Amino acid sequence: MSKRVRKAVLPVAGLGTRVLPGAKTTPKEMLNIFDRPILSYIVEEGRAAGIEHFVFVTGRGKGAIEDYFDHHPELESQLQAKGKTEILADVLRDLARPGEMSFVRQMAPLGLGHAVWCARDIIGDEPFAVILPDMLMAADTPALAQAVAAHGQVGGNIIVVEPVPEGQAHMYGIVALGQKGGDGRDGRLNRMTGMVEKPAPGTAPSNLFISGRYILQPEIFAILETQPRGAGGEIQLTDAMATLMGRQDFHALEYEGTTYDCGDKIGLLRANVAFALRRPDVAEAARAAIRALL
Ligand code: UTP
Repeated sequence: MSKRVRKAVLPVAGLGTRVLPGAKTTPKEMLNIFDRPILSYIVEEGRAAGIEHFVFVTGRGKGAIEDYFDHHPELESQLQAKGKTEILADVLRDLARPGEMSFVRQMAPLGLGHAVWCARDIIGDEPFAVILPDMLMAADTPALAQAVAAHGQVGGNIIVVEPVPEGQAHMYGIVALGQKGGDGRDGRLNRMTGMVEKPAPGTAPSNLFISGRYILQPEIFAILETQPRGAGGEIQLTDAMATLMGRQDFHALEYEGTTYDCGDKIGLLRANVAFALRRPDVAEAARAAIRALL
């Protein structure tokens, strides 16, 4: 039986150039989606999948992340004194549980593969999740919980994928699938045979892109240790996974839900609208406000 997935790596050391100038002084992962930072949703998704330890891979200027999950004694006592108990409860909900979070510095943004490698000592010798925090996923069963369930079923490595928008395959990592069903697909969970980072137009091996949730085996760390720089001069996680695929099983899970790329300005706007509309307490007011603007 495969080991349980208890830890998650959250790489948050990127510069967020696509969401400047907002990300100049606020880490992009701390930008608000409706009334809370992106990372609030991400940690909630992780907890719902059974994650007990979050390893943030941070860099310069990302201190706000650590502070957000810690106590703010003045604010908490002010809210208490003013009887704003609902707001206080909302603030306290996002506090880290004792020992639940670790922070490790990447020192230089050398790429996603390098960021994951920086977490190796804290992860140790067990399967772990990687969550790309700028990809927010709205789903009835949280996306990572779907991946953890798939891992419980088939073990090995799991990559969460979804259909790529028409004509955009060249912008993403695309997976190649095995031949189980006639077209290489068998339901939502399929054995993978390969993956390519940003394939040239017309050459994509499928229409499924790697969308930001992974379950990986610890053997990936030894590969990352000597992984040369790839696309964009960065140490790519995709390249290391392709090497590991020669030795271990990889399955692609087409998850049920919708992804919002919050690393992009329009994606951030879409996420703001979508997450407000998903919130029962504000959906009606949000709908009215949006309608009035259109
Ligand atoms: P992105 O390429 O989306 O993030 O990396 P970025 O570099 O911040 O974005 P732009 O293109 O400049 O706008 C995917 C994830 O990997 C993290 C990022 O923080 C993001 O969550 N990352 C990327 C690192 O932690 N370290 C790196 O060296 C690169």
